[in-house]
Amino acid sequence: MKQRSLMFSPSLLGGDFSRAGEELSIIAASGADYAHFDIMDGSFVPEITFGAKFVEDLRPLSDLVFDIHLMIENPEKHIERFIKAGADMITVHAESTRHLWRVLSMIKESGKDAGVAINPGTPVSFIESVLPIVDSVLVMTVNPGWGGQRFIPQMIDKIQELDSRRTDGGLRYIIGADGGIGKKNIRELYLNGLDLAIMGTSFFSEDDKGGFLHELEGLVE
Ligand code: DX5
Ligand code: ZN
Repeated sequence: MKQRSLMFSPSLLGGDFSRAGEELSIIAASGADYAHFDIMDGSFVPEITFGAKFVEDLRPLSDLVFDIHLMIENPEKHIERFIKAGADMITVHAESTRHLWRVLSMIKESGKDAGVAINPGTPVSFIESVLPIVDSVLVMTVNPGWGGQRFIPQMIDKIQELDSRRTDGGLRYIIGADGGIGKKNIRELYLNGLDLAIMGTSFFSEDDKGGFLHELEGLVE
């Protein structure tokens, strides 16, 4: 029996930026809950993608939950701007700031959901002290920086650990995973505690995106 629902956050990074508005409509029409925005600064990760204006210009086109993944150094400098742009949830990397608690508090005080992300080389214990204040924990299942990379299976242990800590501590965060996710691994991820699947390549490579999400839902039943 299915105990909880799996939610989906397709990443625009897997789409065509020259048609970003249409891609966002495609995400909405697929039945996804969230739209994922990958913000890269060329420093925390090698690539540069886009900034708050891009998010702001897309905001009027959709009621989806705007899930902003900041892969940038010193995210505290940019939180306010992304909130103004229309973010609903902002996820910062634990490795990107000396002031993680402060950044997460800034997001929460603005009334938005605060998420913390960890790279493949970062253990769950590194974010132990912020687990009680976050709305979401994002486990990177690839090294951040590009779409289309291969899923790192050892990351499943972290999802399981976060699920156990959530239960044992009476905590309420959702658990997300990002990178290399699709039909092959969705069931194992879900069974280990995943709530939110972020997908770029697998989602955008399907012609029938609604059918694809439906198929994934079937795989976790
Ligand atoms: C990777 C990004 C991901 C990326 C996932 O640095 O954070 O959100 O879009 O893309 P796929 O699904 O192609 O691995
Ligand atoms: Zn991402």
